[in-house]
Parts: sequence; C-alpha cells; structure tokens
Amino acid sequence: MNATMKPIAPEALAANPFELIGKQWMLITAGSKEQFNTMTASWGGVGVLWNKPVVYIFIRPQRYTLGFVQRESHFTLSFFGEEYRPALQLLGSRSGRDGDKVAASGLTPVFTEMGNPTFEEATLVMECRKLFDGTFRAEDFADVELRDKIYPNGDFHHVFVGEIVGCWEK
Ligand SMILES: Cc1cc2nc3c(=O)[nH]c(=O)nc-3n(C[C@H](O)[C@H](O)[C@H](O)COP(=O)(O)O)c2cc1C
Repeated sequence: MNATMKPIAPEALAANPFELIGKQWMLITAGSKEQFNTMTASWGGVGVLWNKPVVYIFIRPQRYTLGFVQRESHFTLSFFGEEYRPALQLLGSRSGRDGDKVAASGLTPVFTEMGNPTFEEATLVMECRKLFDGTFRAEDFADVELRDKIYPNGDFHHVFVGEIVGCWEK
C-alpha cells in the first residue's frame, strides 16, 4: 500500500458521496497478485447496515469483474483525482477479458496488507469485506417502468454489500 496514504475512519470522511461516487467515479477491484480485475463504477453508496459501516455496489452480469468479486472474500473501492478520468474512462469501456486494460490505463497496481488489489495513484481507498451478494429480481421492482427502461434485456445488477474494514486517504 502507498506509504503516503493515511488510515481514516470511514465515519470521518468529509466527501459528499453523491460527488464521490456519482461524479468522481470509482474503481471496483478484486482478486489476488496473480490475477485481479477492475472496472469503473458510478452507481453505489456508503452507509450503515447491520451496525457496520458499509458500501453498496452494483455489477451487471456481463462484467468480467463480477466473477472476481463473487470469488473473493474482499474487494476494494479506489477513488482518484480528476487527472485520472481518462484512465477511469478506459477501465470502464474495455473488458479485462480482452487484454491487459490495467497496463493500458497507466495505473500502478498495489496490494493492501491483506493482499487486496488497489492502485498507487488513488487518493482514497476502501477495503471491503463482502457481506452480501444478491441480484435484483424483476418481481421486486415497485417502479416497473424504471425496471423496463434500465433492464430491457433482464440483465439485473448483482448487489453487493461490503463492510468497510480499511479506509485510507492521501
Ligand atoms: C462512468 C462509468 C460508470 C460505470 N458504472 C458501472 C456500474 O456501477 N456498474 C456496472 O456494472 N458497470 C458500470 N460501468 C461499466 C463497466 O465499467 C464496463 O462495462 C467495464 O468495461 C467492465 O469491465 P470488465 O468486463 O473488465 O469488468 C460504468 C462505466 C463507466 C464509464
């Protein structure tokens, strides 16, 4: 992990989550030193559930990253300054199935003490322990117009809840 990163309690974060996730975007990353994958995400949340500080992330079934998040016990969320937007665009438009998109992005993989992948250039990292893996179901939508607009092909997002077990910022 980057030595310039300082641990911070998730509750002490000053960032506005609407800005942080929705506008700044993040990378969802999971795997090991041998093999990991990452993808850009701008849908998600932070909050409190089951008496724990948690994140909520949503991954479509087509994403290569999905299998990594499903297999691993942990994943990380990494946030970056504006200068890395092109890298996040790239990691959010190419699939790790089709080649080494991390190398193409120019970002530098680093690993937490627990061995979870994140990136040297990140200004905020959350290390998350997976608590819940589910999928939205057609019959559970209160707003069926929204459902049919977002999911015309029935490719409902996987929903993950992760406990924030480590949080660092620069
Ligand atoms: C700004 C932005 C936000 C995105 N948000 C999400 C998201 O929240 N969930 C999701 O499943 N895909 C999201 N994507 C799409 C994935 O990042 C994209 O499909 C990526 O290429 C998947 O890579 P992979 O196949 O290597 O996992 C987003 C893409 C961009 C550019």
